[in-house]
Amino acid sequence: MIPPKQVQEILDAVRIEEVVEEFVTLRKRGVNLIGLCPFHGEKTPSFNVNPTRNIFKCFGCGKGGDAITFLKEHENLTYVDALRWLARKYSIDIQEVERTPEQVAELQLADSLYIVNDFALQHFQEQLFNTDEGKSVALAYFKQRGLREETIRTFGLGYAPEQRDLLVRRAKATGHSQDMIKKVGLSSQDGSRDFFRGRVMFAIHNLSGKVAAFAGRTMSSDKTIPKYINSPETEIYVKNKILYGAFQAKKAIRQLDECILVEGYMDVISLHQAGIENVVASSGTSLTEGQLQLIKRNTNNLKIIYDGDPAGVKAALRGLDLALEQDMNVKICLLPDGHDPDSYVRDLGGEEFVKFVSANAKDFILFKTHLLLAETQGDPIKKAGLVKDIVASIAKIPDPIKRSVYLKECSSLLDVSEQVLVSESNKLITGTIKKREEKTARQPGAASDSPDVSPDPNFPVAEPEFGAPVREKNMSRGDEFQERDIVRMLVQYGNQILEKENISVAEYILADIEDSLGNFDNPLYGKVASLCHDVLVKGGTFDQNYFLQHDAQEIRDLAVDLLSAPWELSPNWVERWNYPLQNQPMPDLNFDTDMKQALDRFKLRKIQKMCEINLGRIKTASDSGDVDTLIRYMKIQQKLTETRNEIAKRGGTVVMPK
Ligand code: UTP
Ligand code: MN
Repeated sequence: MIPPKQVQEILDAVRIEEVVEEFVTLRKRGVNLIGLCPFHGEKTPSFNVNPTRNIFKCFGCGKGGDAITFLKEHENLTYVDALRWLARKYSIDIQEVERTPEQVAELQLADSLYIVNDFALQHFQEQLFNTDEGKSVALAYFKQRGLREETIRTFGLGYAPEQRDLLVRRAKATGHSQDMIKKVGLSSQDGSRDFFRGRVMFAIHNLSGKVAAFAGRTMSSDKTIPKYINSPETEIYVKNKILYGAFQAKKAIRQLDECILVEGYMDVISLHQAGIENVVASSGTSLTEGQLQLIKRNTNNLKIIYDGDPAGVKAALRGLDLALEQDMNVKICLLPDGHDPDSYVRDLGGEEFVKFVSANAKDFILFKTHLLLAETQGDPIKKAGLVKDIVASIAKIPDPIKRSVYLKECSSLLDVSEQVLVSESNKLITGTIKKREEKTARQPGAASDSPDVSPDPNFPVAEPEFGAPVREKNMSRGDEFQERDIVRMLVQYGNQILEKENISVAEYILADIEDSLGNFDNPLYGKVASLCHDVLVKGGTFDQNYFLQHDAQEIRDLAVDLLSAPWELSPNWVERWNYPLQNQPMPDLNFDTDMKQALDRFKLRKIQKMCEINLGRIKTASDSGDVDTLIRYMKIQQKLTETRNEIAKRGGTVVMPK
């Protein structure tokens, strides 16, 4: 473990441009540097490095963050390894503190397992390439299946001869621990026999290219013996977190911004050899959440190639709602009967195969609709079930625009009115939100997300009833721009000191909007504001690194976004409020005014909303003839309007009273 003091020392030394330049050619543009994004293929540079803020951001693919993030993503390093990398670069001598004995044991175990697997890989390769039997039996088998030697090496293929204990004996002779051989599944439980015998071997790599496990394929066509046998799960081989081929595919997946998923080992290898390198296999099972996350880290676009069999396809579809939930774009391509990707690409060649797939890949939801529709012909009950099934998938999609497009499409496919589908989908969504809220409510410390609104104490409205309906009316999420601006101020200038007031920007802002903290329309912005508030209350401070290195991914991403966008205003701000933009060119140098105006805009929006709600109350009171209540609300309205005008005047804005 690296001690925190040294972590800070490393972070202080890091210059983002120096780190990025090790991998990307950058040239100057203004105060920033730009280059071709290493995370996606592009011809015109949209990859920005901002030395002042010490961050990078690609405006093409959206990736961004600090130097640590860059190394994690680009080099696939862990946080700690990224720190070590930086320490080496900046010649900082890290004195790692002792790990706990458990940690040491765990690491040593993993290391020993990898060492044994490495040895086994060499052994299997040697048997394949350098023995007569290997060459005549196994190498011939691979070649007969169309594999070139280069491919065989890239994928770590090998051969385990039909001998009782060849590997076990050789391992012993070279000093490998028998225990480890057993543990990693290369020998029988009593350690006397080899586990893989008489099979061609496939190394299964983890994402960083270490051999985590093996699969062995029989070369016999005897149906009574299993075609493949696999290493058992171990500390280094957790099946549902490994995708076969991911290590070899990683770079292409990023560059093409798409991942192709197939079923078999041979499919991956064959496609790769044909130049289609962005391929992984789920190894015969349906996609797990862990595997999906691996993909999602590199691309949002998933294309699945299935070999025709409808029963198999239907089973596989089940796992895919998971992908929709993650807002991934999923396409499906079926191959002609009797073909799998391996056989088909060998028939067509890489180029034609790619053409076939792009012409035949169908959107997942529409594909599923077609497939199930064909099955329910003329059976209304089955069809009702199908409608529910499809809508359930659509309701998983987080993006409302995408959702509505699908509902429209499926309405015509299913011949069910769009309105029915929309309301069915809304029911499901509301149900999910409710469940989520109940879950949050049960967790202590979740108060910041409470829908209750506490009005500004300056206004003569203390009744909680005032706040209650706000959330319902706010479904439009109308204040996000103003809220974002506030959060931007906190992230960007939070620790700057205001000369006149002699307090920090964060203190100024949070003291000013303390009462609105639970009243943010955007939960993430509200969360960040409350987080800042909590830190200050506990006497702490924060700067941009606090956010850039925060544990929560969403907060890190937001910080990068906020720090990268040069300047943001609500698109209709100017028209609506005629707010002066005099400080637009150099917001960095003018954070004092910048911040106060952002605060004003924020407060204006909140007041505006209170006005609207209050007007509704006035109308209700007036309709029901309740004079006392009416007067009270009229007074409130007057106060609200005054405050609103006051703020607006400060900004040179004239607000027409409603
Ligand atoms: P396939 O039978 O399609 O295998 O099973 P394949 O990779 O195309 O192999 P070839 O072309 O017949 O040589 C798909 C996947 O299912 C898993 C393997 O991961 C395989 O790649 N599988 C299949 C097993 O784990 N065990 C088996 O007995 C069969
Ligand atoms: Mn096959």
